[in-house]
Amino acid sequence: MTTLKTFVLAAPLAFAALAPVTASAQEFSKDLIEKGRYLATASDCVACHTNHDGGKPMAGGLPMTSPVGIIMSTNITPSKEFGIGNYTEAQFADAVRKGVRGDGANLYPAMPYVSYSNMTDEDIHALYAYFMQGVAPVDEKAPETDLPFPMNIRASMMGWNMLFRPNETHKDDPSQSAEWNRGKYLAEGAAHCSTCHTPRGMLMQEQKDRDLTGAQIGPWFAPNITNDKLNGIGSWTQQDLVTYLKTGRLDHRAQAAGSMAEAISYSFQHLTDPDLNAIATYIRSVPTASASSTSGQSRFDQGQPGNALTGFRGKDYVQGIKGDHAGAALYTANCASCHGYDGQGTTDGYYPSLFHNAATAGDNANNVIAAILYGVDRHTEDGHVFMPPFGGQPNSVNPLTDVEVASLSNYLLKDYGNAKLTVTPADVQVIRNGGPGSRLVLFARIGMGVGAALAMVALGAAVWIVRRRRVQTQTAA
Ligand code: HEC
Ligand code: HEC
Ligand code: HEC
Repeated sequence: MTTLKTFVLAAPLAFAALAPVTASAQEFSKDLIEKGRYLATASDCVACHTNHDGGKPMAGGLPMTSPVGIIMSTNITPSKEFGIGNYTEAQFADAVRKGVRGDGANLYPAMPYVSYSNMTDEDIHALYAYFMQGVAPVDEKAPETDLPFPMNIRASMMGWNMLFRPNETHKDDPSQSAEWNRGKYLAEGAAHCSTCHTPRGMLMQEQKDRDLTGAQIGPWFAPNITNDKLNGIGSWTQQDLVTYLKTGRLDHRAQAAGSMAEAISYSFQHLTDPDLNAIATYIRSVPTASASSTSGQSRFDQGQPGNALTGFRGKDYVQGIKGDHAGAALYTANCASCHGYDGQGTTDGYYPSLFHNAATAGDNANNVIAAILYGVDRHTEDGHVFMPPFGGQPNSVNPLTDVEVASLSNYLLKDYGNAKLTVTPADVQVIRNGGPGSRLVLFARIGMGVGAALAMVALGAAVWIVRRRRVQTQTAA
């Protein structure tokens, strides 16, 4: 009897000694791997962990420029030598939810573990199954991150993690429907809407009391998407929001460019209708905490077309071209061919109207400037939506100067959008340089220990920005 017991106890141990408990020791079911693949798509892992300039999926090596240096994404294929093939499920869970690498070192928050921290054990299990047996191993070393001192001290993240990293996985709120709970889980975790749409505090932490009230993320402004009718998207129906997340546009209201276009192209459009509806149900329940509308009017119903009776307004302006009217002349020369001389767009909506448009009637002018400088580039089942950039990229049709972009923006704002706003050439330069700099860059420059920790966090936000800009420039090129 004793012998048998000893054997029962010893056998698994002996087995473990022979074969370390890694993924390949286990066989995962096809269904589980498929579930993991879906979650990986919802979480957009491939966007960061692939070098889109010819690299293999999940093999890492995407350089992410940040205020303090370049961070490289890592190889997360199951390669045992160069990837995460030796990660146990517990190590994988810690990397994804806590930002702690297999060897115990802290990850930079360029890896969005703060959002992923809400993932349930069940979903981590499915993700693990997918990464171990659904992703092809790539036996290639991804280039390593090499930050200057003191940014290279990974331990400096520990303090911030203690303050701001959530340590709880999602728990259903029994007073809410199952659909709402599923939506909250996805919106706050995998799909991480708040990463971009929630303003950040002094330490770059998301300000939960101002959840989804709008934030600048690189050159683009991610608007208020709370359920407020004036400041947010409270005037949208459930189906409106689902349509926008699936296609990236809502006629006569909004189009997705920049990082939102990318999130839709890679991730949101691939979610099932029940999941998109769940996200919409949850988002539509989030109240606004701050009134931000500078015009006192919703950004979706401002402005009107040029006066159709006089017709061809652009041409009149061109004839009187001088001073104030330069914007109109630039419009006629560069934009009217697609958006129409009166900014009315085309009837099929492919080229949108520039009035009744969130980009020209927002609370700030950043998305007008960004649209002109970076254009629009989005891939969905509806096809490829493309507006060329005018910012001087290799494929710019006609590079415009800061003064020209300011003049053109002011023309659009005054005639079609939020007439209370004015753009200066200095504003344009800020957006051209990637968006308003974080005050944390200053801390980083001071180079103190605390500064380093803060800067790490700035990276998290900055990386999103720059990565997205890079990708956009690449696809456009
Ligand atoms: C916004 C970009 C981004 C997204 C999205 C992202 N990652 Fe990462 N991830 C990174 C970066 C950058 C690193 C390396 C950070 C560092 O070196 O400190 C990293 C590191 C990791 C590591 C540690 C690997 C190692 O040993 O170095 C794992 C595991 C990982 N990510 C898994 C995932 C999974 C799974 C997903 C999707 C659920 C995901 N990541 C989504 C940027 C991202
Ligand atoms: C990577 C950053 C990022 C993430 C993640 C993100 N958004 Fe956005 N979102 C933006 C930006 C930037 C815009 C502005 C796009 C434009 O006007 O071209 C935007 C626009 C929108 C709009 C249109 C609002 C308007 O006034 O035009 C809605 C609605 C929206 N996002 C919902 C969501 C939801 C819901 C999620 C999560 C499921 C989400 N977003 C995740 C960056 C992001
Ligand atoms: C070749 C056609 C074309 C030209 C030329 C063009 N656009 Fe666009 N524009 C588009 C398309 C396509 C979209 C995106 C439609 C969508 O997202 O569904 C767009 C979108 C926009 C938006 C909304 C962006 C957002 O983020 O919501 C603005 C603003 C805009 N264009 C302004 C301009 C201005 C100003 C010019 C001239 C400098 C211009 N466009 C030139 C095709 C064009």
